[in-house]
Formats: sequence, structure tokens, C-alpha cells
Amino acid sequence: MTVLNVPLGDQSYDVLVESGALARCGTILRDALGDASGRRILLVADHAVAETHAEQVAGALEGAGFSVAFATIEALESNKTLDVHQALLEAAARERIDRSGAVVAVGGGIIGDLAGFVAASWLRGIPVLQVPTTLLAMVDASIGGKTGVNLPLPDGALGKNLVGAFWQPVGVVSDPEVLRSLPARERSCGLAECVKHALIADWSLLEALREQAPGILDGDVAACGSLVARSAAIKVNVVGADVREERGAGAGVARAFLNLGHTFAHAIEPLPELGLKHGEAVAIGLVAAGACARALGDWSQVDCDELRSTLEACGLPVSVKGRVEAGQLIKRMGWDKKVRRGNLSIVVPTGRGSVRMHEAPERDLLLEGWRAVGVSGD
Ligand SMILES: NC(=O)c1ccc[n+]([C@@H]2O[C@H](COP(=O)([O-])OP(=O)(O)OC[C@H]3O[C@@H](n4cnc5c(N)ncnc54)[C@H](O)[C@@H]3O)[C@@H](O)[C@H]2O)c1
Repeated sequence: MTVLNVPLGDQSYDVLVESGALARCGTILRDALGDASGRRILLVADHAVAETHAEQVAGALEGAGFSVAFATIEALESNKTLDVHQALLEAAARERIDRSGAVVAVGGGIIGDLAGFVAASWLRGIPVLQVPTTLLAMVDASIGGKTGVNLPLPDGALGKNLVGAFWQPVGVVSDPEVLRSLPARERSCGLAECVKHALIADWSLLEALREQAPGILDGDVAACGSLVARSAAIKVNVVGADVREERGAGAGVARAFLNLGHTFAHAIEPLPELGLKHGEAVAIGLVAAGACARALGDWSQVDCDELRSTLEACGLPVSVKGRVEAGQLIKRMGWDKKVRRGNLSIVVPTGRGSVRMHEAPERDLLLEGWRAVGVSGD
């Protein structure tokens, strides 16, 4: 069992990683809220796990004395919208979730982000317990309190996570047993965020990932559990140091570092013709960010090659397959949340296990990043 504390004063919470932890969700929420009597819970479940893991969580909540209303959502980026957010708020009204209640999110990052935003906005905010069921959500999305939805942009594609709120959970319960049912492609997606954590803070994790990837892709639950504990610890350290992503360039540990690869990834992820999942877009974005570091003289070709071989060992793409043009993608990067006063900034590696913010990157540098992942244009 691993317990990681996110130290945020009166908003502090624990991230629990333990086999069989789903059965403890009821007592964990009861401890967080003080008691269960009269409290009604909106359990927002990914439809893929509604009849399995979410049922188990509902049973644990009822066993601890809560009453539970169930809402099920299909985990699609196209459902991470204000319309679905509103439908969930209407469900909260219909089910009479009052201020003594809470939201429990059972699913991957899509459900966690959406349900977290419902909790942040219903009655101006009620508690949320995150119960991640994908590797990606366990190591990354469930921790740190970023919630939100996508918004259609003028070019017709979705802008990622443009509407939302920081809303810290009262706890995160990660049970590696639930990963048994996760498809191999989704395991790969989770590994992409672990690679990102390795580049930010712990280069030795890259080598561990190359060794452990086959077992994890095969569904080795013990290997998944120890990877979740190690990778989630990196995220906990970063968000504990900069809770609302307020630190800029020059800060020791900035939460914005967690956006490594994401400014590139968010430009391609919503394009339906590419068919990329979030973790796959992140993998490509990491390669692009690595190429920028090489162009800036901060990374060697060996570093770039090690990154690529790790991503490939994790079953992840390292280039874009499909017809897109770099100019179009650079325009999409302009809608990134890190744009300030009209200027973009990107996160780039500076060494083995360290990164920095690079503000107002030259267009040529961005083109270099896109070229490295097979996208040409000017
Ligand atoms: N809030 C944050 O800090 C943060 C960080 C990283 C990513 N994200 C967001 O997370 C989302 C991606 O999350 P994700 O990769 O978890 O994707 P996801 O939520 O789409 O889940 C991936 C797929 O796995 C299925 N699934 C989930 N759990 C399962 C299980 N145990 N068994 C079988 N199938 C299961 C889902 O139905 C879905 O088809 C993106 O929207 C991204 O923007 C948020």
C-alpha cells in the first residue's frame, strides 16, 4: 500500500494506491466528510466500468451509509463538453444532491475531468472523490485538481480543456486491480504520461519503463501498482509545489512543467482524421519537445533516441500518420492555455530529468519540432 499526501493546507488530501482499495471508497469518503448520514452521492461512472468497478464503488459507499445516485457517461472526448456538463448538473438537481453531498468519479481522465468540473460548479462547489480506472488517470489526471471540458474552436475542432476550474479532490483511490480490464492500447496511453514524468524529474524511470513495459502491456498488476506509486509521486511533488500553475519561467518547480509535450499534443489530439488518443498525442508531443531541446542545444541526439526507443517499447507512436500541415498546427497551438499577452510558451527538456519554460519560441523552432514527428510545412 502507498499513501501519497498532497500538502495543500486545509485542502490537503491523500492519494491511496492499493490492490483492493475500491472496497474502501465508502469509509475513505466518510472519513473525509466526517459522517455519511443523510448524505447523497452523485456517482459519475464511465459506461465501460459501470457494471463492474463502479458497481463495486457504489456498494462500498452504500455500505458506509451514503445513498447513491448513478449517472453513466461514455468516455469520449466529444462528451467532455459543456452540454454533457449541463446534463450532469441537471442529474444532480433531479437526484437532489445538496451541499452535504459529493460527487464520486469512477473512470479514466475524461470522466474525472468532467465529474470534477460538475463538483466544482454544482451549488458553487461540493466535494469530489476521484476513483481512477485507467493507468493514465492513476498516474496523472486524478491528481492535482484540474477539472474541465473541451470547447469547439473557430477551426471546427475542439480546443482541449479550455473551460474548467481548479477543484481539489478530497481523496484519490487507485486500485491497480481495475487495470486488469483495461485494453493494451489504453495501458500504452498511461505509459506516455509516465515517460513525461521521467523527463521532468527522474531519468532513471525511462530505463525502468523500457524494462517493465512488456509486463505492463500484458496486464501485470503488481508491475502496474509499483509504476503507479512511483509515477504518481512525481505528479504529487510537482502539484504540491505549485498548486494553481502560477509559477513561470525561472521557478524551481513549476506545475506548468507537466505540460511538457502537451502544447504540441493538444494541437493534434482533437483532429478526427488522426484518430489519436490523449496519451498517443502526448507521446508525439514529447518527441517534438525533445527535438526542440536538441535544436536549442540542451539535448543530444542520444537523448532524443532514448526517448523514442522508450516510447516505442511502450507501444506508442512517435510520428503523425496523416495529412496535416505544420502551419495549421502552429495556429492551433495559439489557442493553448499557456498563451500570455499573445505569446506562446512551451516546456522543453534541459537535461536528463529536468525541463524549463521556453517563452515566445521562434516559428522555426516549432517547425523543427513538427518536422521531427513527420509534419512538414512552413
Ligand atoms: N486533469 C488533469 O490533470 C489531466 C491530466 C492528464 C490527462 N487529462 C485528461 O484525461 C483524458 C484522458 O484520460 P484517459 O486516458 O484515462 O482516457 P479515458 O477516460 O477516455 O479512458 C480511456 C478508455 O478506457 C476505458 N476504460 C476506463 N477504465 C477502464 C477499465 N478499468 N477497464 C476497461 N476500460 C476502461 C474508457 O471507457 C475509455 O474508452 C483526456 O481528456 C485528458 O485531457 C487530464
